[in-house]
This record gives sequence, structure tokens and C-alpha cells, in this order.
Amino acid sequence: MMTNKLIAPSILSADFGRLAEEVQAVEAAGADVIHVDVMDGHFVPNITIGPLIVSAVRKATKLPIDVHLMIENADQYVNQFMDAGADWVSIHVENGYHLDRTLNVIRERGAKAGIALNPATHISNIYPLLNLVDFVLIMTVNPGFGGQEFIPYCKDKIATLRNLIDKQFPNVFIEIDGGVKADNISELSNLGTDVFVAGSAVFKTKDYAQTIAGFKKAIAEESTGAMKKV
Ligand code: DX5
Ligand code: ZN
Repeated sequence: MMTNKLIAPSILSADFGRLAEEVQAVEAAGADVIHVDVMDGHFVPNITIGPLIVSAVRKATKLPIDVHLMIENADQYVNQFMDAGADWVSIHVENGYHLDRTLNVIRERGAKAGIALNPATHISNIYPLLNLVDFVLIMTVNPGFGGQEFIPYCKDKIATLRNLIDKQFPNVFIEIDGGVKADNISELSNLGTDVFVAGSAVFKTKDYAQTIAGFKKAIAEESTGAMKKV
């Protein structure tokens, strides 16, 4: 469990023609982490960002860069992304022949290692890896695109994982990714989320500072409310 809950804007919904400015704008607006969605057109039906863009983002911000690898052969590419400046790297459980080795490579370089899972992948698939990771990235939409609707059945996974890691892996944190918005963030926080990725819900608004402050307020109010109920 993290002491502070974090907001991680996904640059997938940013204006790529002004990427450095966009990254600096969300940093100034109170973002905690910059989430970078790497897609290869094979593991997911979209192609996005490679290490060159991560290097450019690295130059634009001091915030941690969270690289979410939605690519085949992630084993072969993690080092390139860390060379480019990634501080957190997540790989998908559906997609690695050598998850143990790759998670170790990420950690040995001093980055935070994450295991990601798709909505239809049962949470138990990541249980054998919980002693090898710093965080679990629960996909709450099917990976590939920004701006999709949150898939409600993913809520159970957040609560189930929270319960398990609180008992057995207290240093592991939970990140969720997809469909996070002002109107569901407090509920998702209460289920036990530590880090909220939000793409369209940040970059498609006019005032990033107001949006991120709104998220943080909703999270704080909900947790106060929950404590009062107990
Ligand atoms: C989807 C990506 C997400 C995406 C989220 O494959 O992993 O990070 O940017 O976008 P929103 O927040 O718009 O659902
Ligand atoms: Zn992502």
C-alpha cells in the first residue's frame, strides 16, 4: 500500500505535436507519474510509442516515467526502455515466456517492475509473481486505445488483490488503467487502488490542474467518508 495515492496521466491522449509541452503541463498541474503506453500492433491492435519518445519525455519532466509495455517479445526490449529513462516498467502476464527473468532484469536495473493483466485474465495468474514485482497493473479496459468505458467486472479484481497483498505482500502497490474518470475514481480508490492511470479524462479536459485537483479531492473525500462509516 502506498501512503499517497498517485495520478498518472497517460500521454496516449495528449497532443503528440506538442508532447513536451503537454508533459510539462500535467507535471505543473499536479500529476505524480507520466504513463507511457507502448503498443506494437501485434499484442494489441494499435501502434504507438518506442524508446525514442520515452527519451524525449525524459528530457521534458522530472516525474517518474511509467512504461506500460503492450508488445510481443517484451523480454527483448525492457533494457532499451530503461536506457531511455523509464523508472517503472510493466509487462503483461499473457505475453511473456520468461516473466521471472524479465521482472528480475527490470529490478536489477533499479526500476520498479510491474505485472499487467488484461480484463479477461483471472487475477490468480499473477499470484506466482507477487514476490517479484513492485506493482500490479490491472487493466480495466481492453488494452489498445484510450477513451474506452471502464469494465465493471474488473472491480472484483482490485478488491481481491488488495485483500491478498495487504496480508502477504504489503510493499506491492496496485495501479489501474482504463476508463478512470472523475465520477468513478472515488469508488475505485475505496476498492484499494494506489495509482490511477487516466488518459482521456485528463488530456481531453481544458484545465489539467482543475481536473487533477478534482481527482485528488474525490479520493480524499471518499476515504474520509469510508473511515467515518467504520
Ligand atoms: C490502453 C492504455 C491506457 C489508456 C487509458 O491500452 O493502456 O493507458 O491510455 O486511456 P483512458 O484513461 O482514456 O481510458
Ligand atoms: Zn496503459
